[in-house]
Amino acid sequence: MPNGHKPDPCCLVIFGVTGDLTHRLVIPALYNLLAGNLLPDNFCVVGIARKGMTGEQLVESLMTGLHQFSARKIDDTLAKKLLSCVTCIEADPKDPASFDAMSKQLDRIEDERRTGGNRLFYLATPPNAFLPIARELARAGMMAENGSWRRIIIEKPFGTDLESARHLNHELLKLMDEQQIYRIDHYLGKETVQNILVLRFANGMFEPIWNRNHIDHVQITVDEKLGVGHRGSFYDSTGALRDMVPNHLFQLLSLVAMEPPARFDAHAVRSEKAEVLSSIQTQSEDEALKNSVRGQYRGGRVGDVEIEDYRKTEDVKPGSTTETYAALKLTIDNWRWAGVPFYLRTGKALGVKRTEIAIKFKQAPFAMFRDTPVDQLSQNYLVISTEPVEGIELQFNTKVPGPSIEIDGVEMKFRYKDYFKAEPSTGYETLIYDCMIGDNILFQRADSVEAGWQAVQPFLDAWKKAGAKGLKIYDAGTEGPEEADELLARDGRSWRKLA
Ligand code: BG6
Repeated sequence: MPNGHKPDPCCLVIFGVTGDLTHRLVIPALYNLLAGNLLPDNFCVVGIARKGMTGEQLVESLMTGLHQFSARKIDDTLAKKLLSCVTCIEADPKDPASFDAMSKQLDRIEDERRTGGNRLFYLATPPNAFLPIARELARAGMMAENGSWRRIIIEKPFGTDLESARHLNHELLKLMDEQQIYRIDHYLGKETVQNILVLRFANGMFEPIWNRNHIDHVQITVDEKLGVGHRGSFYDSTGALRDMVPNHLFQLLSLVAMEPPARFDAHAVRSEKAEVLSSIQTQSEDEALKNSVRGQYRGGRVGDVEIEDYRKTEDVKPGSTTETYAALKLTIDNWRWAGVPFYLRTGKALGVKRTEIAIKFKQAPFAMFRDTPVDQLSQNYLVISTEPVEGIELQFNTKVPGPSIEIDGVEMKFRYKDYFKAEPSTGYETLIYDCMIGDNILFQRADSVEAGWQAVQPFLDAWKKAGAKGLKIYDAGTEGPEEADELLARDGRSWRKLA
């Protein structure tokens, strides 16, 4: 949750207001902001709906969603106060006249609500609607900032490969200024993710050893227990790599690997992130095949849940070769990281849910202790964990009490919940609040998005060409394909065991 002042008056216009994202995350986040006294005094939400939906129907559906999805207990008075700000109007990007009418209606609503013309357009829609809506908003004059601000939030996925991401950026930037575009990645709304910068740059003890001299390699893991469920249609044309790597995993990678920014402002931080992403070595297709593993789950049990074969999932092609698991080895071409591999893995229907960054430090250089060879010492990891617990742990070796020198690995653990009392939140609160106050530090700039796609493009191309060849089938409920272990074993390394 953010802490700060109330934003200036504004109107939040939501495209896709009847969808899952609005119900599950956006409205609960607005509720939490209101509960924290962090919504503007003069504020309104305008849902852009299809023909026939009334304001009352929309409010009723959002109220049901709020009760269903909010992790906090809902106070009815507060919920009614929030939803009293909601109205809905009709517009269809295929019908320019509807956008001209919408512009007039918004002017009228804003006069009534005294929101002063500041508008935040939230595109919580399928990606094929991003450009048509943006074009219509610009054509109807709604992105022009005349004494008030106009901003647009764009959800993921931002493109499906390098070319489409470039095209989307190029077209958007013909319509509006980069400063007006907020490309959202919900990982940046997570406290533990934001804390990576604080851990690195608000402490003097980590940065001196945060480099190739002391770090052996880095592992980034985002493992999920859930299968694809009802998202078959989206997922089958997307796959694990596109769905998770250029966005979420690269956010984690860039925060861990970036150089210290000169200032904590959007320009400095985002420039360093873009710089490190563009330093990821572009691999040839052969290298990409060698440095990656892709898998697809077949049916199995994950805990008590039976997960059906991916290929039998609703809306998935029976012979699909879409990957539900991806593991990659990347290297970063700069002085800090030369020779330090970054191993990334992510997958669905796995045995544990776990999101973590594990920094593996180099072993002690010499075995001073009798009968304890260096390679038998337990490994030194600093682990930044987001799921299932939020915290940081340090693994190191210690002497087992007793007359002889015996050595064993122990863990020092920090858990957020032991130190801070935080109300449950969706992760979207900070992001929406930041848009309202015009702080885009937690949003992706065009160059970062493109650098991310550039790094994964060889894998996309190589996998497309390989088709079914090289796709490893793994059982739901396991750790994924065994070949992912071989990817590290080849380098004399292994994945950290996930509990
Ligand atoms: C989404 C992906 O962006 O992130 C999903 O589309 C994935 O497939 C989700 O499950 C993971 O987010 P989180 O916050 O649960 O790690």
